Amino acid sequence: MKIGLMGLGTVGSGVVHLIEENGDAIEKKIGQKIEIKKILVKDPEKKRIKEAQGKITINPYDILDDPEIDVVVEVMGKEHPALEYMKEAILRGKNVVTANKEVIAKHGKELIKLASENNVNLLYEASVGGGIPIIRPLKSCLAANKIHEIKGILNGTTNYILTEMKSRGLSFEGVLKEAQQKGYAELDPTDDVDGFDAARKLAILCALSFNKYVMPDNIYTKGIRTISKEDIKYADELGFTIKLIAFGKLDEDEKLEAWVHPVMISKKNPLNGVNGVYNAILVEGNAVGRLMFYGQGAGMMPTASAVVADVIDVANHIPTQNGYDDAVMKDIVDTVSKYYI
Ligand code: NAP
Ligand code: HSE
Repeated sequence: MKIGLMGLGTVGSGVVHLIEENGDAIEKKIGQKIEIKKILVKDPEKKRIKEAQGKITINPYDILDDPEIDVVVEVMGKEHPALEYMKEAILRGKNVVTANKEVIAKHGKELIKLASENNVNLLYEASVGGGIPIIRPLKSCLAANKIHEIKGILNGTTNYILTEMKSRGLSFEGVLKEAQQKGYAELDPTDDVDGFDAARKLAILCALSFNKYVMPDNIYTKGIRTISKEDIKYADELGFTIKLIAFGKLDEDEKLEAWVHPVMISKKNPLNGVNGVYNAILVEGNAVGRLMFYGQGAGMMPTASAVVADVIDVANHIPTQNGYDDAVMKDIVDTVSKYYI
């Protein structure tokens, strides 16, 4: 099975490394070889990893118009032109795998409909929680449940910053640089720091959990920019840790409560112990009860793990419900926000 990879940054390089390292084992599992045929980048002059030699292109149509390419893996980031490339790939009958939460949160409904109409998969496991399996569990393993509430730490960069500010007493700016060097942060780290990335992920989880399609801009969002070392110290003295929490809940009137902002988390709360780049998502279903999904929420190899798993699902011809069912999905614009959990 041949892949066209769009993007060779943190995640794209991880995908190349993972397929190189585990390719033989994957081939034994699925009975076919996964091969990256072409790689789209922006800057043709940049020095690239040796595995990319001879595959680099700056023309998206080298991938989109290649009939041998079955799967387009979009790991470029940003809304545009990623959205347009994904649409063009789907219209040409190619399966699409993406880690792009901005595109899925804002255009997921439209893209999923397009993918279903064109009989291809659109898979986006890496868009929420990095390496944590959460999209597939919500779509399939938990499908029998009514999900009432979903909450957690959905951004690795901010959790890393808050953890390091607390443990090493460092300032916000210094730790942000570290998170960028480790490949956790978005190209524009404002997306992480001001909570927009977490709001996009929450919008995706609300769609999958509640059939409510909410634009991230309609989710009350406040980031960690104004949290100081002193805030963290005083919270600690009171027995709390400050975490950036994303929260979604349906009330009895089917009104969606959805927000992202810093919260004081008590020592008894399982989210208190989630540190560094780790994310955790607590899901409450009426049959299964409470579940906690925990793992590395950002970074090269954890994210590549989720991306390549989606590629393997395509190779295995796992019939997939792409996600939101258009017939039952309700668009909503007014959400409710509260300051406690
Ligand atoms: P990144 O390191 O900035 O890499 C982006 C790559 O895409 C680069 O290779 C860049 O080319 C290429 N690119 C960007 N715009 C392009 C364009 N218009 N045309 C062609 N190529 C273009 O980003 P990343 O951290 O890997 O993230 C990629 C995606 O994964 C984003 O949607 C992000 O939100 C998501 N994600 C990231 C993580 C993580 O931990 N980093 C985790 C989960 C999801 P050049 O190399 O030439 O600059
Ligand atoms: N910038 C994101 C984060 C990457 O820090 O969580 C993973 O989605």
